[in-house]
Amino acid sequence: MTGSRQAQEEETLDPHDWEEIRALGRQMVDDMIDYLRDVRGRPVWQPIPEDVKTQLQDSLPRHPMPARDVYDAFKRNVLPYPTGNIHPRFWGWVMGSGTVTAMLSEMLAAGINLNQGGGAQAGNLVESQVISWCKEMLGFPESASGLLVSGGSMANLIGLAVARNSRAGFDIRREGIVGAPGPMRFYASSEVHSSVQKAIELLGLGNNALRLIPVRPDFTIDIQELKDAIRRDRSNGFLPLCVIGCAGTVNTGATDPLATLADLCSDEQLWFHVDGAFGALAALSPELRQAVTGMERADSIAFDMHKWMYLPYEVGCTLVRDAEAHRHAFTLTPDYLEHTTRGIGGSEIWFSDYGVQLTRGFRALKVWMSLKEHGIEKFGRLIRQNVEQARYLETLVRATPELQLVAPVPLNIVCFRYSGSRADAGALDALNKELLLRLHEGGVAAPSYTVIDGKYALRVCITNHRTKREDLDLLVAEVLRLGRGLEG
Ligand SMILES: Cc1ncc(COP(=O)(O)O)c(C=O)c1O
Repeated sequence: MTGSRQAQEEETLDPHDWEEIRALGRQMVDDMIDYLRDVRGRPVWQPIPEDVKTQLQDSLPRHPMPARDVYDAFKRNVLPYPTGNIHPRFWGWVMGSGTVTAMLSEMLAAGINLNQGGGAQAGNLVESQVISWCKEMLGFPESASGLLVSGGSMANLIGLAVARNSRAGFDIRREGIVGAPGPMRFYASSEVHSSVQKAIELLGLGNNALRLIPVRPDFTIDIQELKDAIRRDRSNGFLPLCVIGCAGTVNTGATDPLATLADLCSDEQLWFHVDGAFGALAALSPELRQAVTGMERADSIAFDMHKWMYLPYEVGCTLVRDAEAHRHAFTLTPDYLEHTTRGIGGSEIWFSDYGVQLTRGFRALKVWMSLKEHGIEKFGRLIRQNVEQARYLETLVRATPELQLVAPVPLNIVCFRYSGSRADAGALDALNKELLLRLHEGGVAAPSYTVIDGKYALRVCITNHRTKREDLDLLVAEVLRLGRGLEG
């Protein structure tokens, strides 16, 4: 076989026709910008039709299909059936609403395709700068370390891994937890997010290691119960290591008394971790900052920018006060990853030394571009706007006799239900469950649900920069219409 014949057979994934793909790319950008611009006019959510489900189960493609046809399949079968979280009336779980520039920056990040594990490349400097900005935003010292991660779950895992390793009192990376002189104990309120339990399980501690402390009527941790639990555990041979404070609980948005927890942890020599997945970002608003006072004294903080900074998935962050403890928990440098002083391996920081992943994507870019484009003050104003919207909804609920508020509204979450004229609690649970399903299926609005003090509740969590007060008026009107229909 001749050299030129071999060359002909060599393949690549680059397009044959660059102009054709350029036109398709432009079309995609145009379509997505229209999609975002027109989101208010569409239903929040709609069920996926059976034929679409079938088409999304077709067999492994063996042969090429024109990129335009693939894109058409996306437009037909994927684009119309999202969860709805970019819609102004989506308030379920704790979802992000996304932004236009960050969408475009995701394309740039995929195009440049940096591996953010390490190396002398500008992306590392961008991520370092973003982490510096995060420290400043949350009041952490510049000497702290940080890592951008997939989200709050991973951010909690990283923070709690550092807590475990640095407070265990022996070389846990070498010995494993079997080397511990007694069972380790972590403490958090009973309202702590499930990702904390998952992290404790993944750290090999077993979920018995997570002591869930009762809460007060405002859903914040009962400090006396916490102190008692730590004292009891010490006297029974357990090893208390860490307290996890909640800045914004997932159910009701309650924030533990973080300054008191910081004092307690310093007295008891415990690691203080804050799960501030969304609540930590209240610090961006001068009017709300005091709600999270004490957070800046934590040893580690987990928070998400894909929640209350509205950026597209995925981007969370862990900050750790003691940078060396952070590095020590994860660094591992075989010959093939040696950090050089010159050439491509010569970066000052290797992010792979601070987390689980070696290969990491360039999620820093969308944060960097968005902060530059809008400035931090605008994010602070939007967060405050969401809190004011939650208070507005609270007022509407309180003013409507057929509705019942089932939890305080300290931040951006409102839990309420249709109570109509029925007294029976079981019947009300069933009615509200059906009401919520109809609300989703009608495509008008999308709260989620939870159970508060045994009562099934509609849960409106506003981490949405597109929401307007009139959307909340519409929600209340629709809940009343559906509730009255179900009752009558
Ligand atoms: C308080 C809290 N912590 C942690 C998480 C987990 O974050 P993620 O879903 O980004 O992994 C959530 C998610 O809603 C949360 O509300």
